[in-house]
Amino acid sequence: MRNIILFSWHFLGVFSTLWGLATGAFPSSVQIGGLFIRNTDQEYTAFRLAIFLHNTSPNATEAPFNLVPHVDNIETANSFAVTNAFCSQYSRGVFAIFGLYDKRSVNTLTSFCGALHISLVTPSFPTEGEGQFTLQLRPSIRGALLSLLDKYEWNQFVFLYDTDRGYAILQAIMERAGQDAWQVSAICVESFNDAAYRRLLEELDRRQEKKYVIDLEPERLQTILEQAVSVGKHVKGFNYIIANLGFKDISLERFMHGGANVTGFQLVDFGKPIVIKLMQRWNKLDQREYPGSESPPKYTSSLTYDGVLVMAEAFRTLRRQKIDISRRGNAGDCLANPAAPWNQGIDMERALKQVRIQGLTGNIQFDHFGRRINYTMDVFELKSNGPRKIGYWNDNDKLVLNESPQTNDSSAIDNRTVVVVTTIMPLMMRKPLLRH
Ligand SMILES: *[C@@H]1O[C@H](CO)[C@@H](O)[C@H](O)[C@H]1NC(C)=O
Ligand SMILES: *[C@@H]1O[C@H](CO)[C@@H](O)[C@H](O)[C@H]1NC(C)=O
Ligand SMILES: *[C@@H]1O[C@H](CO)[C@@H](O)[C@H](O)[C@H]1NC(C)=O
Ligand SMILES: *[C@@H]1O[C@H](CO)[C@@H](O)[C@H](O)[C@H]1NC(C)=O
Ligand SMILES: *[C@@H]1O[C@H](CO)[C@@H](O)[C@H](O)[C@H]1NC(C)=O
Repeated sequence: MRNIILFSWHFLGVFSTLWGLATGAFPSSVQIGGLFIRNTDQEYTAFRLAIFLHNTSPNATEAPFNLVPHVDNIETANSFAVTNAFCSQYSRGVFAIFGLYDKRSVNTLTSFCGALHISLVTPSFPTEGEGQFTLQLRPSIRGALLSLLDKYEWNQFVFLYDTDRGYAILQAIMERAGQDAWQVSAICVESFNDAAYRRLLEELDRRQEKKYVIDLEPERLQTILEQAVSVGKHVKGFNYIIANLGFKDISLERFMHGGANVTGFQLVDFGKPIVIKLMQRWNKLDQREYPGSESPPKYTSSLTYDGVLVMAEAFRTLRRQKIDISRRGNAGDCLANPAAPWNQGIDMERALKQVRIQGLTGNIQFDHFGRRINYTMDVFELKSNGPRKIGYWNDNDKLVLNESPQTNDSSAIDNRTVVVVTTIMPLMMRKPLLRH
């Protein structure tokens, strides 16, 4: 099924590029690359949906050209597979690549993009360097996490992490720990199995550790949370901060009933009109054709969708500025020595970094280094009836938590609180009586 669709897209692409050459106008079909790795089915679904909606838009101002993707889904993201995929897309004349990477493939991919001036738009973890041709859709969680730790006055906690997204957060935490004399036990749980997680949690509990910051990839996060439940560390008295931008993506049912204090961050606001509108479309997708569409888009899928919006907007800008992008004479060997970078690669990169639009992940805007700026994320706490927004963080206002409405907001009084209140009430009423 997938092959057939790709073939027809490709055919259309070649046809209209030829037409574009003949008229010398901005291409009516714009070739882009798509690079997906293991476990990114839902992201791929979001990518296809975004392109489909663009290409079928009835608004000619919005879509004066079609987006024609050349997609590679690679199982193992080693440098050999990534090189092959990049080179095949490069030789087909893509103007920019939407791509995911992991820690094994990030260097190969960003080096190729830098050397050949092909921009990479990615929802993967932000890289630490100044990858000139890399546009990072995923905002940094660092500021929000540090503000929350300050607000909660945590100065002794356990930091559980893996290195799949690099060391940026670990570094930030350890720096602050040094400055403010926090006692942080940082534990890398990368190679842990279920039994090892359970042993670790039991051991930490024996050491009276009740506060945890968890900075793990979603799969590993889900596993450790399950193990925490199985050893009973999901109950009142335990505190968790989840260092992840998709609090609603995580299944926290058991924690909800256990009563542990769980806080996290949520990039996508499902109450926003643009998200509501997309969800109406998303819910109608056939999950056999669009895998992953049976559940709401995870934040990485929302970032993927936004990535397509960003690319479309950059192409609209170039078209408006009458910059006649073309890969003519520059779609050959990606391994040529010396490398022959794409002449208009700089124009493309500039147009991408100047994009300012509203997407599923809110205000989309980049700095000179291609990193997200001026973004907002909500802060959520797990209540006995599910996750609830308790505030937000952004660059300007920093962390803003709602004044806790516990005293008279009846919806905030959960079942646990009600039980406490009813046992205390008789005592309070009896006391004055006894005095008389
Ligand atoms: C068409 O798209 C443009 C650009 O996004 C927008 O400004 C305009 O309002 C749209 N027109 C209609 C009729 O939706
Ligand atoms: C959760 O813990 C934080 C501090 O660690 C506290 O400020 C917050 O009120 C707690 N939430 C609940 C519902 O107890
Ligand atoms: C930040 O984004 C908001 C829209 O969310 C926009 O109104 C504002 O002008 C932006 N600020 C800067 C400094 O670009
Ligand atoms: C809660 O109390 C505040 C002031 O004390 C009041 O303005 C607000 O309306 C109250 N809310 C409810 C739901 O009673
Ligand atoms: C409280 O618990 C009861 C029964 O356990 C349930 O039916 C009800 O929906 C709960 N209320 C809230 C606000 O969670």
